[in-house]
Amino acid sequence: MSSSSPATPPADARPDAASAARPAAAYISPLHSPLLDDRGPRPLLLLGSTGSIGVSALKVVAEHPERFRVVGLAGARNMERLAAQAAVWRPRLLGALDGAAADRLRALLPTGYRPEIVTGQDGYVAMATHPDAAMVLAAQVGAAGLAPTLAAAETGKVVALANKESLVLAGDLFRTVCRRSGAVVLPVDSEHNAVFQALAGHDLADVERIVLTASGGPFRGRDLGFLGSVTREQALNHPNWSMGAKITIDSATLMNKGLEVIEACHLYGVGLERIGVVVHPQSIVHSLVHYRDGSFLAHLGAPDMRIPIAYCLSFPHRLPLSMQPLDLVRAGTLTFEEPDLSSFACLQLAMRALAGGPELPVVLNAANEAAVAAFLADRIRFLDIPALIGRALDEMDVSSGAADLAAIQALDAATRRTVGEWIARAERTAP
Ligand SMILES: NC(=O)c1ccc[n+]([C@@H]2O[C@H](COP(=O)([O-])OP(=O)(O)OC[C@H]3O[C@@H](n4cnc5c(N)ncnc54)[C@H](OP(=O)(O)O)[C@@H]3O)[C@@H](O)[C@H]2O)c1
Repeated sequence: MSSSSPATPPADARPDAASAARPAAAYISPLHSPLLDDRGPRPLLLLGSTGSIGVSALKVVAEHPERFRVVGLAGARNMERLAAQAAVWRPRLLGALDGAAADRLRALLPTGYRPEIVTGQDGYVAMATHPDAAMVLAAQVGAAGLAPTLAAAETGKVVALANKESLVLAGDLFRTVCRRSGAVVLPVDSEHNAVFQALAGHDLADVERIVLTASGGPFRGRDLGFLGSVTREQALNHPNWSMGAKITIDSATLMNKGLEVIEACHLYGVGLERIGVVVHPQSIVHSLVHYRDGSFLAHLGAPDMRIPIAYCLSFPHRLPLSMQPLDLVRAGTLTFEEPDLSSFACLQLAMRALAGGPELPVVLNAANEAAVAAFLADRIRFLDIPALIGRALDEMDVSSGAADLAAIQALDAATRRTVGEWIARAERTAP
């Protein structure tokens, strides 16, 4: 290990006031719910079933069909995949992005199978709050996942949370809602799941620091000169993980780790000064908890999202999974290094946003989603992503606040609009 001190936020990013205002370290939600007392197969609803996490989740379910009952599946545009999943699992509820997608879906379903099909945000919210669902897997991508995930929490569901953007946008709101409704949040994100497991049976008050590991993405060790000319294909080529396009670009910019730092602060109720980030290119150690007696508890495993997904879906039990066990001898040397905050500005921008109060993470996330979509459409360069986010943090008017869902969604929309205008103007003036 080349560094014994995982990267800390820059001194000017320490959120002294913000962390002082937060409650003492405490997990975001209760960990017990009558919905976890299985008296039969666990009723499961998957939002984002057609994505990378959704597909992995259904593989877990397929290995243990007696343990789960799939009550709903939601995709957005990929109706071929949703129809194929629905044909296997026959849930009574299906969700699609809009009426056109729903019509395509209906035409693809097997004869004689007539589920209820709902559409759009209202439809996803109706699914997430449906009385038949005990556990909701929140695996839609981006801010679009916020309203249904929050609605699931408001109705006291067990939320297996992959959609990290929900906590980035509304972490404080989730904490309040879960305390009131009794909803349980279980982290699917591999790093937070690792921390969750390393904390089991321990007191958060004994935690010195939470150390999130980062693979470093495809451009680890590269300088700004190199990053200036990388292509979309290079950025989509993650060395260890197979994921959706947006999170893969976030991994290449290190914004994914920035979002995860914010997610960790909200999940565990700790300030930024108690989160570290260390680059670990092998993606075997998924994160660590450093206790005040000097002990470090780490979670190790193959880089396969079925492991944290299965942990959440079967919580508080564990399910056997058919996969090659991790072979530490074959894995060989495990290395750790400091993240390069100057070449990968997004990590620092996320820390700055968290330190700046609840509005700036909304601006950060919306600017990032707009910039990543433009990069994936070949409209901007890789280094334009952090530049646009930094400009949005500097210039967006956040006076309307981010205290509730409506305010968050308004600020999210305003930021996307503004960043979209900046991109369009730059295209018009480009030689
Ligand atoms: N992949 C991973 O290994 C991983 C690890 C940790 C956390 N996560 C988090 O999990 C979430 C999903 O990631 P992913 O990699 O599975 O993404 P993905 O493969 O791109 O899948 C995204 C899912 O969201 C749906 N979707 C897209 N736009 C939507 C919209 N406007 N409204 C509602 N649903 C929409 C997609 O539907 P269609 O495909 O039908 O259009 C798909 O089901 C993200 O928040 C990500 O950060 C992922």
